[in-house]
Amino acid sequence: MEKTILNGQKLTLGVCYYPEHWPESMWREDLERMLATGIEVIRIAEFAWSKTEPEEGVFTYEFFDRFLDLCDETGMKVIFGTPTATPPAWLTEKYPEVLNADVDGQIYRHGARRHYNYNTLVYRALTERIVTRLAEHYAGRKCIIGWQIDNELNCETNEFHSEADSAAFRLFLKRKYRTLDALNNAWGTVFWNQTYTSWEEVHVPRKTISNSTNPHEVLDYARFVSDSARSFCALQAGILRRYLKPGDFITTNGMFGKLDNHQMTEESLDFYTYDSYPNFAYCLDAYTSDDRDLRDRRWSRNLMEVRSVCSIFGIMEQQSGANGWNTRMEAPAPRPGQMTLWTMQSIAHGADFISYFRWRTATMGTEIYWHGILDYSGRENRRIAEVREIRDRLQKLAPLAGKPYLAQVAIAKDYDNVWDSELDKWHSRLAWASEMALFSAAQRTHTPVDFVYMDHTSLEALKQYKVIFYPHPAIMTPERAALLEQYVMSGGTVVFGCRSAYKHLNGQCVMEKLPGLLKNLTGADVPEYTFIAPDADPVTIRWGEDTLEASVFMDMVEPEAEGILEGKYISDCYAGSGALVSHTVGRGKVFYYGSAFSESAAGIFLEKLGVANPWGSILELPECCELAIRGDGVHRFAIILNYLKTPAEIRILRPVRDLITGEMLECVCTLPGYGTLTLEI
Ligand code: GAL
Repeated sequence: MEKTILNGQKLTLGVCYYPEHWPESMWREDLERMLATGIEVIRIAEFAWSKTEPEEGVFTYEFFDRFLDLCDETGMKVIFGTPTATPPAWLTEKYPEVLNADVDGQIYRHGARRHYNYNTLVYRALTERIVTRLAEHYAGRKCIIGWQIDNELNCETNEFHSEADSAAFRLFLKRKYRTLDALNNAWGTVFWNQTYTSWEEVHVPRKTISNSTNPHEVLDYARFVSDSARSFCALQAGILRRYLKPGDFITTNGMFGKLDNHQMTEESLDFYTYDSYPNFAYCLDAYTSDDRDLRDRRWSRNLMEVRSVCSIFGIMEQQSGANGWNTRMEAPAPRPGQMTLWTMQSIAHGADFISYFRWRTATMGTEIYWHGILDYSGRENRRIAEVREIRDRLQKLAPLAGKPYLAQVAIAKDYDNVWDSELDKWHSRLAWASEMALFSAAQRTHTPVDFVYMDHTSLEALKQYKVIFYPHPAIMTPERAALLEQYVMSGGTVVFGCRSAYKHLNGQCVMEKLPGLLKNLTGADVPEYTFIAPDADPVTIRWGEDTLEASVFMDMVEPEAEGILEGKYISDCYAGSGALVSHTVGRGKVFYYGSAFSESAAGIFLEKLGVANPWGSILELPECCELAIRGDGVHRFAIILNYLKTPAEIRILRPVRDLITGEMLECVCTLPGYGTLTLEI
């Protein structure tokens, strides 16, 4: 059965539509106008529970039946959303236990969205029923091509503190630890007399003095929240699978904290979709005038994350207008060309389906300032004209469809460390600094980079990279260390940053000499370490001819066994101590770098390891332009994106074909402000 979207044949446009927000008399005209604009797919119904179950146990299907009849008639394809992000008022009034609570135990009430928790049995039962009823009734419809589960799991909050969550947390912990003794050990509860003597004493984290809850507990809590969200998604996916027409898909949208999106996708989804709003960079309270800030280009980092879950993915909500809830998040309308730029940014990273948020701007509710393609009146405007231009462009870009993003460099991550770094201040400072530095250095040197998640990859997958940075895996496991060793043995290079492998899986610190489980692989010994003191002079490292600027932290790192001292600190009172050790293992090499990566240090690593600017012999680009490559064994395409409002001069050094115009180019050319270019190289 041929898939309708993400089928490797074409790039498809969609839009989010809310038939419940508009008079029925407008529906047909809206659908016809969408189709004429090049929009082939709509996503509907994700907040509309009351339209199909207005009272408990009373099901009414006519509203969406009438709408879907029109879709069938006009040829519009539909992604149907399950409505569980917004439980009806009758439900939360009758079953207040389904409501989520904040850390103080204060309940979130009806009136916004995502105020439910995943663990109340009655909410799971009511979810099962509504999803079953919707799927039974609608899944056979011709126009439906797939389903979206809920909306943005873990968005608005990823903190759950209801009674049902504490009960489910206990079960999660009993399954994991079996005995209270094991739990007490894993959480180190002997510290400050936290020892538990009965399971009933264990709760999801609650208000504590100085907001300093036991860190090992909080780490398990993050895993628990992720499991809860995944199981809620799996519950719905299991039902939908029973009713789907052949070829129809299941997805969900968004990418939020405390959720193992990789595992969720593997167990429940056909592919993953993301909601891309780069205009957040221009929010009145977020904008910085610092031109080193990558602003909307930072969404490429998010898209790298999405790609690590699913190499070819969809954008369920792509920015098409100004931002704004009536209380916050205010940003201007995208300037002419920015919608195209952001659409191409998504496509550059592997999106084959782009659905704009939203067709018309809501005239009521919290999001009256979150603009869609059309304003309140629906009159013709500049943005819909830009969508038509995008449609014409995407037809010419069909050869990109199904082609994965190509990179020789990866940044390794894993959820244990992501979650540990969310709660541990030392860890978070390092993790964020290095990730942004590596990302920015790669962006500015036009070096395509992937993220890889260690527990969701394989030796085969890792082998496509020449270099893998694993900046600060504070938590290390024997399995991850072994996989990296195999990768290095086969010829790869791994670069670790400071503070690697000083924690166990439960977040407790190891007592072995550092870097713990990485000692043999790195050939390094870390006898001493410190934050860079606030009164220190800039800390620098000499590595051969180069001087690197250290960042945040210093591990004094000395070679052991076959390790080789490559670099030393040359400033501050630790001058002379080792800062960089290399170790040859099999056909590959491992580096242990004693600091966090500054952007300049990251750039030097990329350069010295021979992976910077791999397309430099064909394309000479200014820093303000991003370069992405999609391709396979036969065809390769370079997508160049200018994020500035001013023109950029680029040099094409060998004849290559412009995919839009068909022209062969070998020239110095000017890419206009917000301009993009797609070349077959
Ligand atoms: C997304 C959400 C949409 C809409 C949009 C603008 O996060 O999925 O429903 O709320 O943001 O705020």
